[in-house]
Amino acid sequence: MIVKRAELYDYRNYAQARVDFCDGINVLCGDNAQGKTNLLEAIYFGSVGRSPRTPRDKELIRKGCDRGRIKLTQLDRGGENTVEILLDRNENKRVAINGMPITRMGELMGVVAAVYFSPDEMRIIKDAPGDRRRFMDIALCRMSKAYFYLLGRYNKILAQRNRLLKSGKATDDVLDVWDAQLAGEGAKIVKTRRGYVERLGGFAREAHEYLSDGKESLKLEYEGFEGADQAEIEKNFACELFRNRERDKALCFTSCGVQKDDIAVKVGDTDVRAYGSQGQQRTAALSLKLSEMELHRAQSGEYPALLLDDVLSELDPYRQRKLIERSKNYQTIITCTHLPAEIASALGEFALYSVKGGAVSVDNKA
Ligand SMILES: Nc1ncnc2c1ncn2[C@@H]1O[C@H](COP(=O)(O)OP(=O)(O)O)[C@@H](O)[C@H]1O
Ligand SMILES: [Mg+2]
Repeated sequence: MIVKRAELYDYRNYAQARVDFCDGINVLCGDNAQGKTNLLEAIYFGSVGRSPRTPRDKELIRKGCDRGRIKLTQLDRGGENTVEILLDRNENKRVAINGMPITRMGELMGVVAAVYFSPDEMRIIKDAPGDRRRFMDIALCRMSKAYFYLLGRYNKILAQRNRLLKSGKATDDVLDVWDAQLAGEGAKIVKTRRGYVERLGGFAREAHEYLSDGKESLKLEYEGFEGADQAEIEKNFACELFRNRERDKALCFTSCGVQKDDIAVKVGDTDVRAYGSQGQQRTAALSLKLSEMELHRAQSGEYPALLLDDVLSELDPYRQRKLIERSKNYQTIITCTHLPAEIASALGEFALYSVKGGAVSVDNKA
């Protein structure tokens, strides 16, 4: 799948812009604070319905405006499709696919497929488990609407259980009902995530080996409820909920569940999350993103677009070259403040754009 075109109206610092991308490497060059990240953010927003930078959609509307709009045109094996998102200061966002409004956000998943990587995301390995969980959940949502709705149901049940605990009226009868539901949906999540991490692990090991010139072997392990099958996971989850029940009542929230799970990232016997060098953590983060590209293709038959936000300047020359080599396999959109000659020559053919004050112009079609 490729992103053919992005159109932005009153979005961030863009009053109106239209950018046509090529199917290979696209380089967006410009000084700081000109709108490069904003453009990648818009593409990612059209992909999964949330910004990588903020959970507050209203921030995306251009200052002084009441509404903003993003329109993306993609091209996949099935032909062209458009995704349009309308942002309104006073209302929830509205989404239309091929001009037809959708009623459930899950319909958005997978139309525009994009993987985003920025210096912030390089911390995914050493950051709190929440970031690794989000990584996994967003990837799964993009590949499966069913997972998106499953996660929504789980979070709703969890919120209701927490509300009940806070109200101080949590009787064992009522908790029995919520716990059964939570364990049921939770077990489906664990099973899906475990399968995902297992499959991702193979691609991540390959990517990490590639990036470290065969010197390091990366291993991913899902950390969550154990169980040979869904029924056993569900039983283990339910037991844990029951074991923690009195504590949960005292704490007024649910202290165990899939909202606590994590991915262990290891090189050899070293847990990279806690003990990896900065270089190892960065390489592992990049390996995760590249493996996400591969897994998506294995599942859907097509690569997503890769969005690299200011990433090249953060890597050593060896990894820069390796990443550039890989990027040639897919549509890649790269941002940078300047383009050193050695990077330009490693990129080979690419389309160059300059971004200035919320305007994008084509520099050359290389
Ligand atoms: N909602 C908004 N309305 C208008 N301008 C915005 C909005 N949000 C961010 N900006 C502006 O966008 C610019 C940052 O753009 P960004 O894409 O992050 O820059 P960069 O080119 O460095 O990646 C800043 O000048 C910021 O003030
Ligand atoms: Mg930026």
